[in-house]
Amino acid sequence: MKTLLVDVAGHRYPIRIGQGTHQLLPQLLTENGIGKERMLMLISDSHVAPLYGLPMQASLQAAGYQVGLSVIPPGEESKKLSVVEQVIGDCLRFGLDRSSLVLALGGGVVGDLAGFVAATYMRGIPFIQLPTTLLAHDSSVGGKVGVNHALGKNFIGAFHQPLMVVFDVDVLASLPAREVVSGLAEVAKHALIWDVSFVEWLEAHAEALLALDPERMTEAIYRGCEIKSAIVSQDEKELGIRAILNYGHTIGHALEAVSAYQRYTHGEAIAIGMAGAARLSVRLLGAPEMLVHRTEQLLHRLRLPIRYTEDWPQQALLDAMKKDKKVRGGHYAFVLAKQLGQVELVRGIAEDQITQVLKEIHA
Ligand SMILES: NC(=O)c1ccc[n+]([C@@H]2O[C@H](COP(=O)([O-])OP(=O)(O)OC[C@H]3O[C@@H](n4cnc5c(N)ncnc54)[C@H](O)[C@@H]3O)[C@@H](O)[C@H]2O)c1
Ligand SMILES: [Zn+2]
Repeated sequence: MKTLLVDVAGHRYPIRIGQGTHQLLPQLLTENGIGKERMLMLISDSHVAPLYGLPMQASLQAAGYQVGLSVIPPGEESKKLSVVEQVIGDCLRFGLDRSSLVLALGGGVVGDLAGFVAATYMRGIPFIQLPTTLLAHDSSVGGKVGVNHALGKNFIGAFHQPLMVVFDVDVLASLPAREVVSGLAEVAKHALIWDVSFVEWLEAHAEALLALDPERMTEAIYRGCEIKSAIVSQDEKELGIRAILNYGHTIGHALEAVSAYQRYTHGEAIAIGMAGAARLSVRLLGAPEMLVHRTEQLLHRLRLPIRYTEDWPQQALLDAMKKDKKVRGGHYAFVLAKQLGQVELVRGIAEDQITQVLKEIHA
């Protein structure tokens, strides 16, 4: 088991990553001074709860904890206020009080929603994150929790840092392969924006990661979390450097929006977006051509797409990009790379540069 200490906004918490870590949960709770008198509410979705939630509830109960279970339907559709209200109803009926804890067991959807429940229940109670998707390594650092509004994703939320994160790489075995690959896109992003040696490491171990090799997976999650934590700890509220975490996301979000989130997973969309951002970086920042090659090679080895194939009108993609939260005053803004491992936010980008790149990444 590897442990990373995250330090954000004066709040320090450990991320424990490894094989079989879920089984250590009762012990980890005790070690962290969480006594049996404190009630626990396990929040999960209906895919994850039967696989890992029920055994976890049983093992915590056997250790002497009182544990409630609240199960939400799977998928992004559940990330909304009405589901928050239902879960809070479960918490109230179970008798959760201000000294209780929320355990968020699931992917990014459960993490965001359960974290938001914890942030708001009785004005805020602590929570522990138990990510079960690779993508959720991303949401386990930074303290962003929240739900969607009919008018847009993640418009309702808070910053609420977890008490600890316990990542068990064994649970990735039941994750659909496409979700594993999608999660690798955010890992690749962390490498591409920050650390050339991590890019090289990912290239070397791509096959092992796709095969869910537990040691390599532990290392990849550790380094991904470490990079995100280095960035977020400098900028908890996203006023400056944190924006670089949106590398690949301007085009990525547009691809997701244009297809109503049906065609690409988030990771697939940002992989295509990173291929586009690398190309734009060569045009606008004079980054070396090699940047495009290395970016696309890494994504390709991780079985991620680097081209979009649909004949969506360019204007629809541009309009979606204009809605991106980085856009100020109608000008396009992109996170671009000066070179591999070094990126910055660039504003005021001309539309024709973007349309050229959209052509290049269209197959
Ligand atoms: N808060 C943040 O900083 C942050 C960062 C990145 C993403 N997010 C959010 O994360 C969400 C996406 O997360 P996600 O990709 O993990 O999606 P998800 O939570 O919907 O999980 C994907 C699917 O896999 C299933 N699943 C999860 N773990 C499983 C397992 N171990 N075995 C079998 N099935 C499993 C889920 O039930 C679901 O059907 C988005 O809502 C996004 O906004 C938040
Ligand atoms: Zn993302």
